[in-house]
Amino acid sequence: MTKKLILGLVVCLVINFSSHAQSKSEPYEGLKEWQDTKEQRIEWFNEARFGMFIHWGLYAAAGGLWNGEVYPQHYSEWIQAWAKVPSKEYSEVLKPQFTVENFDANYWAEVAKDAGMRYVIITSRHHDGFSLFNSEEPFALHNDVTGGTNISPKGRDLYGELVSAFKSQGLKVGAYYSLLDWQHPDSYEGFQFNENKKGYTPNHQIYKQYLYNQIKELALNYETLDVLWPDFSRKDSEGEAWGTREILKDLIKWRPNILVNNRFWNGLENKNGDLGTPEKYVPPTGLPGMYWEASHTMNESYGYSKHDKNWKSFDKIMELFVETVSKGGNFLLNVGPDEKGELPQPAIEILEQVGKWMAVNSESIYGTSASPFYGLDWGYCTQKPGKLFLHVFESPKSGVITVPITNEVKNAYPLAETEFSLATQRVEGSVELSLSEKRYHQGPQLYVIEYIGELEVSEQKVASKEDGSIVLTADNAKVSSSNGIYIKGASHNYPDKPNCIAGWSNKEDYVSWNINSNRPGTYKVLINYIPEENKSGQVEVLVNEKPLRYQLSSSSTNKMVEAEVGNVELTQAELGSTGIHVALKLHQVQGDELPEIQGVRLVPQK
Ligand code: GLC
Repeated sequence: MTKKLILGLVVCLVINFSSHAQSKSEPYEGLKEWQDTKEQRIEWFNEARFGMFIHWGLYAAAGGLWNGEVYPQHYSEWIQAWAKVPSKEYSEVLKPQFTVENFDANYWAEVAKDAGMRYVIITSRHHDGFSLFNSEEPFALHNDVTGGTNISPKGRDLYGELVSAFKSQGLKVGAYYSLLDWQHPDSYEGFQFNENKKGYTPNHQIYKQYLYNQIKELALNYETLDVLWPDFSRKDSEGEAWGTREILKDLIKWRPNILVNNRFWNGLENKNGDLGTPEKYVPPTGLPGMYWEASHTMNESYGYSKHDKNWKSFDKIMELFVETVSKGGNFLLNVGPDEKGELPQPAIEILEQVGKWMAVNSESIYGTSASPFYGLDWGYCTQKPGKLFLHVFESPKSGVITVPITNEVKNAYPLAETEFSLATQRVEGSVELSLSEKRYHQGPQLYVIEYIGELEVSEQKVASKEDGSIVLTADNAKVSSSNGIYIKGASHNYPDKPNCIAGWSNKEDYVSWNINSNRPGTYKVLINYIPEENKSGQVEVLVNEKPLRYQLSSSSTNKMVEAEVGNVELTQAELGSTGIHVALKLHQVQGDELPEIQGVRLVPQK
């Protein structure tokens, strides 16, 4: 072979290798030191389970409005994009309004601590390119787009004040850091809102260096950096697009115990970093095989919004919190302080309530792991070795809940009154627990079962509701899937969507439920699904093998409907002996697949 040919081959190989490496990043860009230390670095995070997210920046002064116009979009920190404001104007209007006159970092840290939070993630800078920390980068100190990117008042460093305050309360501290930049001429978004200099081609190399340097500042110029929370990537800009390998290589030397989320890479559930980052939804079956943290807002917006009054109730927050932890995740609850540095009053009130609940029940949160059960009738479960923590959201009138385990029980008690032993009974392969009559506090009541031996989970049964109806959902279904159907949850675009059975085109896949009821008679069978274009077909509901067929229609409404499938008779004999078994099967698919199905309801008829 000639020298030229060999050289050609080598070049080819290198090109091939690097293009492959670019299209599919390895975890941590292949850096072993991250992989090898993961379990030890993540320990505190798994123990903590509960953190505060803070979105604070110039956008707080806009409060979701621009020039008097309300932008109803959920993310007020995106106001610059919604209203298409050039960076210069954005900066000139908002900097003077961002007075932070009532800001007290210690107070924020106390609020978080009192709520039971164990860590905080602070927006060190957001997509607008402005930062709460005092960067010494030349572009940050002075640029001809806006003058500069640092927004702390003279003599102060807002980020630094927060780091010290939270650290002195004993919380771990992380920095949210935007990879997007609407201000920097060399970023990937370039000058999208700004007038570009004639013929200027962005130099991403300069931008990558800027990211590297600023992350170095966050790591080294402050008392601590326990988590780096970069945000966010797309298919066409992820991994090496940000110079991730260089950053990670040094970051772990600067801060050997640091965690990094997965947003240097594309996809909220990608497995490339230490943590998955579902946004505004709880993954229905957790994220097996990875550590994760779901962030939620208390109203709709992350950043402060004057017009967003859609505050979640304390009960809703508790449900999101407990559901997340019961599925193996951490709960990162957001606050969006205003331009004066004040936390919104409704947020303070919610956090106070959470704090009261945590003061009694935190043992059922810190250091617990995911529930051994899927959907339970009465609430959620978390566990520690030898202990089940039962979070009862809906106590039945009977005052008795069923726990599907066959173990012998050592002790059972309310977490609020540990010396008060509760009666348990072993029936048909499960344990019945008599709840205490007292309500100890607002929010879910907490019961502990201490059991003997290795945990043995038995077959779960769905109990009928007080009115006799039987509600069978994607959450309490047993899913039999050949890699086809799965439970699809809400998403950050559709946060209120209930969990549904999705991806159904294979006849072998089905879902089923076992039911506990003692009410014989005629039941009306109803099905809940979300009609969608190009998705339809026939399903079969089998109640104790008796089939009922139903044609699911397709339309573009994309809104949940409830349709009548037919009637079914349940006899006393069936209820007593075999029990009731319901299966939902695919009979025939038209179009791509079946529409998403939330579940089936059986309603007793007079
Ligand atoms: C997002 C948004 C952002 C928000 C965040 C929270 O990707 O762009 O505004 O800060 O994630 O998870």
